[in-house]
Amino acid sequence: MCGIVGYIGNQKASRLLVNGLKRMEYRGYDSAGIAFLENGILNIMKKQGKVDGLDTLVPHDLISTNIGIAHTRWATHGFPNDNNAHPHTDNSGNISVVHNGIIENYTSIRTKLIKDGYKFSTDTDTEVLAIFIGALYEKVKNLEEAVRMALSEVDGTYGIAVLSSYEPDKIIAARMGSPMVLGIGDNEFIIASDAAAIISHTNRAIYLNDGEMAIVTREGYVTKTVQNENTNTAVEDIELDLEQIEKGGYDHFMLKEIFEQPETVRNALRGRLLVEKGNVRLGGLNAVIDKLRTAKRIVITACGTSWHAALVAEYMIEQLAQIPVEVEYASEFRYRNPIITPDDVIFAISQSGETADTLAAVKEARQKGATVLGFVNVVGSSIARETEAGIYLHAGPEIGVASTKAFTSQLTVMSLVALMMGRMRNLSQLDGKRIASEIAALPEKIEKVLESTKLIREIAHEYVNSKNFLYLGRGYNFPLALEGALKLKEISYIHAEGYPAAEMKHGPIALIDENMPVVFIATQDEIYDKVLSNMEEVRARKGRIIAIANEGDERIHVHADHVIYIPQTLPMLNPILAVVPLQLIAYYIALELECNVDQPRNLAKSVTVE
Ligand code: AGP
Repeated sequence: MCGIVGYIGNQKASRLLVNGLKRMEYRGYDSAGIAFLENGILNIMKKQGKVDGLDTLVPHDLISTNIGIAHTRWATHGFPNDNNAHPHTDNSGNISVVHNGIIENYTSIRTKLIKDGYKFSTDTDTEVLAIFIGALYEKVKNLEEAVRMALSEVDGTYGIAVLSSYEPDKIIAARMGSPMVLGIGDNEFIIASDAAAIISHTNRAIYLNDGEMAIVTREGYVTKTVQNENTNTAVEDIELDLEQIEKGGYDHFMLKEIFEQPETVRNALRGRLLVEKGNVRLGGLNAVIDKLRTAKRIVITACGTSWHAALVAEYMIEQLAQIPVEVEYASEFRYRNPIITPDDVIFAISQSGETADTLAAVKEARQKGATVLGFVNVVGSSIARETEAGIYLHAGPEIGVASTKAFTSQLTVMSLVALMMGRMRNLSQLDGKRIASEIAALPEKIEKVLESTKLIREIAHEYVNSKNFLYLGRGYNFPLALEGALKLKEISYIHAEGYPAAEMKHGPIALIDENMPVVFIATQDEIYDKVLSNMEEVRARKGRIIAIANEGDERIHVHADHVIYIPQTLPMLNPILAVVPLQLIAYYIALELECNVDQPRNLAKSVTVE
């Protein structure tokens, strides 16, 4: 998720564009850049780091231009550095492109262009688009036509803006999957990824639809489909204020990120799931594929919520690939002199990629000669740099300290890794296809779960004054019980514990009485009946039960005070659906207790100290 701004009008553009980027910085902040035309010459300025760095670089007082495009980046392909920052240009240097999204087939387009003699100098998918547009422009000598032809051949998502010295009074914007808004001002037009960069100029805007382009000149604009049909999309009034826009209209980043999960899970799957083959394509692991094929053991190390994801991954990989998996708290792993052999493959899971304990565990494992892979959300982060290979989550910036969308993306990516490793061993194509199609159905199923938000809020309200909570689950749902408890603890400050449901009899059952709410993750699997009897043990001691169960479960309601139903899926994928109600229970309790949901006390989004 990056931020794009474009301007054409009568005002001096450079400072306006950079200020617009500052309003977009919550979308991505690892590098920034600007392209503008001065005396008909296309100028590009870009820099790694926050927008302030670019602001210092750009000599605003020397620039008179009133047309330009700009970008603040959340890297997906290519480490954050000056070279990979946007804008990217074609080989002539006369066409510049800024892009928000992922071009899935960029490697095949690049291969063709290299054969035709074009040169590449960055690791990004966006440069491929810029050079592709340039190559087509050479043929058709029309910028709009060249952009249209290029977009007709790319797969993936994009919000783009294009500026060229060939047609200096024009900006072309287009959208497929990533938002693009055209602000209609008085004799000026502002293009942006969302209205945050527009509302200080005008509250009249056009929200481009998927497959739609806007060709904007000083005189006006026209909206068309990529297939060249006029669309005349209506101008709307921007209702939201800035803070609301940054939060996408939600009250908190955490709630916004919970509701982003259908899309972020789609992004985690984009270009990686081959349902027809019952397999996956994880380019980031190509370099270590043999190591994964011959690995005798997988050791997963992480902290906090990422450690809970590691526990679920342990079940997934052992089930599908039938090789031993161990999960280690990174803070323990780094100091206990773990037994690591060269046949071991170490997975480090981290949203931020900067968690000190996990980074140290990575270094410890490397110097012991193991193959170490990173599964991180922040591209170019320390753990991404320190590991031999890995997979990015593509969940976009996670602002809320309580991790939500990163967790479901971690589980989604781990399900892909488990499927790949299973197919490398004894998992049949038929079983692979069955699992792959269930994974592909996850985004829609999460949307279905989110439809129960109102019910979940009502249930949360009933327990807002509880002093303690217990979360119980078995198998894949045990780590989820830990995650549910952590979410409630970290944002509502209510004491909560997660346990394997069967473990209760060995102590925690002493805590249970009519004041103890107990959340059971009781989805359908081979130990479901055992969970029902654990629920009866709680009810026998007047415990109040909130159950997360699968749709179509006719039996659960007699064992619980409240039931939140989620769609059916495979036991290994239930955690990706069942965690959503747990996130919402924690959110609504914290909200009612007026806690600082996005920045809870005593916590940091990335723990870079040990
Ligand atoms: C989770 O909500 C917390 N923010 C925290 O436990 C977090 O998961 C932990 O600090 C690990 O962070 P990482 O994924 O960025 O390494």
